Amino acid sequence: MANRTATGNGSVKQAQPVMAEEGKVLQSYGQLVTMHLGLSKEVCANSVKALNGILADTMTLRDLYKKHHWQISGPTFYQLHLLYDKHFEEQSELVDEIAERIQLLGGISVAMAADVAELTGIERPPQGREEAPVQVSRLVKAHERILIESRKAGEKADDAGDCGTNDLLVSSVVRTNELQVWFLSEHLVPLVHQ
Ligand SMILES: [Fe+2]
Repeated sequence: MANRTATGNGSVKQAQPVMAEEGKVLQSYGQLVTMHLGLSKEVCANSVKALNGILADTMTLRDLYKKHHWQISGPTFYQLHLLYDKHFEEQSELVDEIAERIQLLGGISVAMAADVAELTGIERPPQGREEAPVQVSRLVKAHERILIESRKAGEKADDAGDCGTNDLLVSSVVRTNELQVWFLSEHLVPLVHQ
C-alpha cells in the first residue's frame, strides 16, 4: 500500500505564521515619495495637502450621513432614512477616490477617525438625536465647506498643471456635492406658507 503520510523532509517551521514587529514606518504622514508623473514634488505636495483636508471633511460628512440615517425621526423618516444612505454610499466612493489620488501623488492619506477628527473643519455634532431640519441644515453646511475648499483647491491644482487633481475635484467632488445639496435643500422648504 502506498504511503499516504507526509513526504519530503521540510520542517513545519517554514509554514509557521510569524507576527511582524511593530515600529518601522515606511513613510511618515506628510512626507512625499517621488512618483514619475511629470509633476514637480512641490506641485504634488500642495495637491496632497489640499486633498487631505478635503478627505478629512468628506470622511466626516460620510459619517454624519450614517449617524443621521440611524437617528432620523418624524414624518419624513422613511424618505430621509433612504436618502441619507444613498448619499453615504456616494460620499464613500469619493473618500476612496480622493485617498487613492493622494497615494498616487506620492503622499499619505489621512485614514483613522482620531486623525480625521483633528484635521476636519466640519463642526462636531452632538452625540444625541437632532430634529430632521437640523440634521439637514447641518449636512448642507458641511457640503458647503467641502464645495468652497474643493473649488479653491481645484483652481490651484489647475494653475499648477495638476489637471488630474482638478478633474477629480471638479468632476467628482464638486458635482456630487452640488447635487446632494439640492436634494437636501428642498427638504427645508416649509410645507405650509403663512
Ligand atoms: Fe441602514
